[in-house]
Amino acid sequence: MDGRNLRTAVALMLLPLAASAADPAWIGEARTVATSVPPKLLAVLRAEIDKGGPEGAIATCSEVAPQLAREASQASGWAIRRVSLRQRNPKAVPDDWERATLQDFDRRAAAGENPATLERAEAVSVDGQTVWRYMRALPTQELCLNCHGPADKLSAAVRAQLQSRYPNDLAVGYSVGQIRGAMTIRKPQP
Ligand code: HEC
Repeated sequence: MDGRNLRTAVALMLLPLAASAADPAWIGEARTVATSVPPKLLAVLRAEIDKGGPEGAIATCSEVAPQLAREASQASGWAIRRVSLRQRNPKAVPDDWERATLQDFDRRAAAGENPATLERAEAVSVDGQTVWRYMRALPTQELCLNCHGPADKLSAAVRAQLQSRYPNDLAVGYSVGQIRGAMTIRKPQP
């Protein structure tokens, strides 16, 4: 990292994380990208649940979520994925930065912050290259409980599908307002 990048990184670390006029442009861009995918997925989920119940939406969820992420990635140039401290997809394991962020989101939500607006943005240095990283919390809503709620509240059909597709599923037992996971996106500084 040269002197200028170092100063930028230090300046970024000192910035408050809430939206502010002083945010560098990349944070606004990251926020737009990270908040564009979840509403699209939610709309598909709702439609599928209306059509075939939650058990009918499980396959859709595992295919549509990565597909929407791929499309948004191609359109924006940001690498996009979802992670969780208690993942369902075994690939959704957070790295150290993501884990620390998810733990911080849990603390901030417990302290009364609105889980829907929790975010973290940071320019980090990876092998001498500055990488922009941004995470945005995904709070559990009522609809999510169909597939992420307490195990005894899931329908038998949902339980059966989850057991066969995700034998190591950790993503049940949530209640409304808890943080289910987060969108995590990154892009090398051009
Ligand atoms: C129809 C069932 C269903 C509903 C409803 C549902 N999910 Fe999921 N969720 C899944 C499945 C299945 C996966 C694993 C997808 C995969 O294979 O990548 C998943 C994965 C996730 C992940 C990725 C991390 C992980 O644990 O693998 C997050 C985050 C997530 N869901 C959040 C939510 C939120 C928030 C809601 C409500 C807005 C929600 N889900 C509603 C079935 C559902």
